[in-house]
Amino acid sequence: MVLTPEEIYQAVDLHFKKKGLSQDSALTFDDVALLDLYSRIPSRSDIKNTTGRLAKNIFLNTPIISANMDTITESRMAIAMARLGGLGFIHQFLPIENKKKEVELVKRADSAIIERPLVVPPDTTLKEARKLMASYGISSLLVVDENTEVLIGILSHRDYQFEKEEDKKVGDLMTKKPGLITARWGSNLKMAQELLLQHKIEKLPLLDKKGRVRGLITTKDLEKTIKYPNASRDQKGRLLVGAAVGINSDFLGEAEELLKADTDVILVDTARGNSERMVSAIRAIREKFGNELPIAAGNVATAEGTLKLIEAGSDCVKVGIGPGAACVTRLMTGVGVPQLTAIAQCSAVASKFYIPVIGDGGIRYPGDLVKALAAGADTVMIGRLLSATEETPGSVITKGDKRLKVYRGSASYESQLIRSDWSDEDREKNFRVPEGELVEVEYRGEAAPIINKLIGGLRSAMSYVGTWTLEEFRMKARFVTQTRAGFEEGKSHDI
Ligand code: XMP
Repeated sequence: MVLTPEEIYQAVDLHFKKKGLSQDSALTFDDVALLDLYSRIPSRSDIKNTTGRLAKNIFLNTPIISANMDTITESRMAIAMARLGGLGFIHQFLPIENKKKEVELVKRADSAIIERPLVVPPDTTLKEARKLMASYGISSLLVVDENTEVLIGILSHRDYQFEKEEDKKVGDLMTKKPGLITARWGSNLKMAQELLLQHKIEKLPLLDKKGRVRGLITTKDLEKTIKYPNASRDQKGRLLVGAAVGINSDFLGEAEELLKADTDVILVDTARGNSERMVSAIRAIREKFGNELPIAAGNVATAEGTLKLIEAGSDCVKVGIGPGAACVTRLMTGVGVPQLTAIAQCSAVASKFYIPVIGDGGIRYPGDLVKALAAGADTVMIGRLLSATEETPGSVITKGDKRLKVYRGSASYESQLIRSDWSDEDREKNFRVPEGELVEVEYRGEAAPIINKLIGGLRSAMSYVGTWTLEEFRMKARFVTQTRAGFEEGKSHDI
């Protein structure tokens, strides 16, 4: 798998030439424009295929990923992204039990069949049941015999909504068997769905031969599978989700827990991806969990760094040192590569091994996303553009007549402060020079319109370049470099 420096040079050189890019200086999005090529596409609305590959055989209909940042992606954002055909990586800065729970929340959201639905024994109090339901955002629970695991009832909203006695037992409130409609585990999904409609019920437990609970189908989930036809789903129809681990924590233990929750892809994330520690972390994860596990890793910004991560066993390389909106790495350290050049270099090498690349950071306009993909990225990761949306963690702050949410660089002073439980003295000693900043961004409603606008721009670009698929677009798209005056001309002006 090793490429010699000469082979790396040739791969990069060939890719740059094909793209119309120069290696004389490092470029970013504003430095280039895409050429329109002869197109046989009647209308941009005819373009339906914007599928990009994330890792191994995980494909996303929408090649956009929400950033693994603590002000961007927890379960709500991951659910929204997967419903829209993209994906979210739950950030690494949560304690493992919380991170696992966030993954579980995504996996339980609008799946065709919920496996291992939550169950409680009949002597659970209403208070305990309410607490459990609230923590998973659900309104009913299956009640089973503690010893045999056989279903004995369902506690539905109507059973407890007016109940005031919180110490009452679930067994006394639930709707009991017989009288419950159930279906056999393994029965045809369509038939099971018809049962729901026919009996006008909300929940259909799926039982094995002995009457033990194996799964659950709900009308709410059913409606959602129809409502989000583009959604990113696993083989069982559940939403896809990724989770990030750092390399300074117990990443093997964390990965193990995350995989128990059926995380689809593990992201090994550190600011200095091109490092010995990173390589040994990827190796250790690969060794422990085998070849089947999709592993993404980053960040790097050079062809050599990309090769190191691939050699260590990564199935996807995340690219970007310092292009992010909240990043000051380049100012503080002088290190980093302007993002268009970084993506082009890294993808030139990664594509030799059929390894996809995530272009991470620096996207401000739909055109930037398009350019990142045209340069060779298979998917693009976004922080700032999704910040202050409804689905981001954290609450809305009101300042005067403004409603704001925080967007914070992961290496900002404030992020370090939140994550550390150091004493004042240790803090002085341990704090890194911040390589990120905090901004307050005006609240912007849901993430969906932002993603739709980005994809609208991509479809349009694909029609200008005359390509029906994203794969074809990535192959054919060519750049010209432009001057600052050229860039300014492309903005609205003199109006
Ligand atoms: P955007 O531009 O979409 O970029 O906001 C998101 C990406 O920025 C990176 N990131 C950081 N980089 N210091 C950095 O140098 C930081 O504090 C920081 N926080 C986030 C990260 O790669 C993210 O996906």
